[in-house]
Amino acid sequence: MSSESKVKVVTTHVLQEMKVRGEKIAMLTGYDYSMARILDAAGIDVLLVGDSASNVMAGHISTLPITLDQMIYHASSVVRGVKRALVVVDMPFGTYQGNSKLALRSAIRIMKESGADAVKLEGGSEIIDSVERILSAGIPVMGHLGLTPQSIHKFGTYVVRAREEAEAKKLVEDAHLLERTGCFAIVLEKIPAALGKQVASELKIPVIGIGAGSGVDGQVLVTHDMLGINQEFSPRFLRRYHNLYAEMLGAFQAYISDVKSLDFPNEREQY
Ligand code: KIV
Repeated sequence: MSSESKVKVVTTHVLQEMKVRGEKIAMLTGYDYSMARILDAAGIDVLLVGDSASNVMAGHISTLPITLDQMIYHASSVVRGVKRALVVVDMPFGTYQGNSKLALRSAIRIMKESGADAVKLEGGSEIIDSVERILSAGIPVMGHLGLTPQSIHKFGTYVVRAREEAEAKKLVEDAHLLERTGCFAIVLEKIPAALGKQVASELKIPVIGIGAGSGVDGQVLVTHDMLGINQEFSPRFLRRYHNLYAEMLGAFQAYISDVKSLDFPNEREQY
């Protein structure tokens, strides 16, 4: 089914209604068509084409190297697999910071070339001109505050953010600014649960957490992490729903063994 003919069930308005009636929003990352189809069939509300693709798909140690063309490739693959979920695409590092015209050009390319529903940008007041310009073109924007992985070289570490009062205060101010500017939702990453709850209760738009506690309006995880495909990454906030690394390893080993022992293909598996 093409992106033009799909029936969109989850829109930014639906997410807003979910917040109002207290229904939690479930969001996961997706980077390819086959996984997106399964996630959508499962009933995920929001599918994030995260720049975590840089880590989990390409093997980089940070999200910084992934390009706009690569994000558009991942996003268009995901969109082709989705009938219901809202598809949000991360704007990659270097495509929106410090230049709102570049930001608008990048966002338009994402929307036009992938067929996605919205974009996500990391940061608060320092990127607000870019957020404003993208919104002025009618493109829905999701914010992202707290641990913003594109700024890892500024932070120097992936520890919990906004434990100190000054950083917490700036985060709350940035959240309000993003809401006032017109963002339809905000992701809060790796911050104290009490702060996540405070922001979610002060804002009218949905606040979706990853390592931000249970008091927010929804949760997001990286799909490869929650499936246990990645064994190395074990932050406290991650719940593993499967050990897919072990399952896949076993399946690959069984195949190798069957090929080498001439068990595969058997009579019924050939023409
Ligand atoms: O890129 C990503 O996967 C993200 C989530 C961790 C929120 O931004």
